[in-house]
Amino acid sequence: MPLAVRFDEYGDIDVLKVVEVTRPVPGPGQVLVKMMAAAINPGEASIRKGLLHTMWPATFPSGQGSDLAGIVAEVGPGVTRFAVGDEVLGFVDTRSSHAELVVAAVDNLVARPGSVAWDVAGSLFVAGTTAYAAVRAVRLVPDDTVVVSGAAGGVGSLAVQLAIDAGATVIGLASPGHHQWLASHGVIPVGYGEGVAERIRKASDGHVDAFVDTFGGGYVEMAIGLGVSPDRIDTIIDRAAAQEYGTKLDGSAAAATTEVLVELAGLIAEGRLEIPIAKTYPLAEVREAYRDLEQRHTLGKIVLEP
Ligand SMILES: NC(=O)c1ccc[n+]([C@@H]2O[C@H](COP(=O)([O-])OP(=O)(O)OC[C@H]3O[C@@H](n4cnc5c(N)ncnc54)[C@H](OP(=O)(O)O)[C@@H]3O)[C@@H](O)[C@H]2O)c1
Repeated sequence: MPLAVRFDEYGDIDVLKVVEVTRPVPGPGQVLVKMMAAAINPGEASIRKGLLHTMWPATFPSGQGSDLAGIVAEVGPGVTRFAVGDEVLGFVDTRSSHAELVVAAVDNLVARPGSVAWDVAGSLFVAGTTAYAAVRAVRLVPDDTVVVSGAAGGVGSLAVQLAIDAGATVIGLASPGHHQWLASHGVIPVGYGEGVAERIRKASDGHVDAFVDTFGGGYVEMAIGLGVSPDRIDTIIDRAAAQEYGTKLDGSAAAATTEVLVELAGLIAEGRLEIPIAKTYPLAEVREAYRDLEQRHTLGKIVLEP
């Protein structure tokens, strides 16, 4: 029987289990995918802890996971877009991709370009569409200066590259260990913590046009203090600050289309976009993977593989 991640109650990492489940069956408009890679995301940890119960309640036993890349193992009735053996990437909106076999809607999948590695393909959806939406929201034009907080994280590491691609000067906030990676991608690295606003002023010659916040905890207020107009600030996490200051709040949902997935996969295939893979874990080590993620110091993505 195939293995899948499950949890039966809200709680800490230890509620996560990897259990045998009955083989899922694809319905009309669906395929069964043999998972080759499925990234993990901080939002899943928040859901598991019950922190998002009001907005997105869990029903138990709950599965987990949105990001998905794999090989079509079975097609549902009437499906013609994909055939058994096709290599796909995309997502599920059923919290179920952290599993050996995953039922996915064909509308949420695109073909995996052969040159996009499995771990990268399985990391693309959440971080990619979120970075895409956040960068689009602040409407960069060449010679703008934009600051990205959490610049080395799953979303931030992609946002900085998309912003560079748009012709902007990009200042990325990260810990010193990640400055070299940022600099090697054309980003001006700046350390966060005490004095960060002053360091940004210095790095930007006192003029910041836009701000992409992927970390929360006061960066929206800081962006306002730096003189950035609220309609050129996007936070993917600080809903309260977005409401208070009237900033953008575009995240994954604003760009969760197969067109965007195809575009991002194309950029990766062309070597214009890199998803750094911090580490891969076997599905059986899902708890270790989240222990790692929940340190909140990842460069890029952490990925589960079968
Ligand atoms: N709205 C949406 O659709 C959406 C979608 C995806 C994610 N999110 C949310 O967005 C956030 C980021 O997601 P992610 O996947 O990018 O997370 P992640 O990969 O875990 O990002 C962690 C990053 O945060 C940085 N960081 C830690 N402390 C910091 C600080 N004080 N100031 C600035 N940066 C700091 C770390 O940088 P260093 O390692 O350099 O310290 C690390 O690179 C999460 O809260 C997630 O829930 C929202």
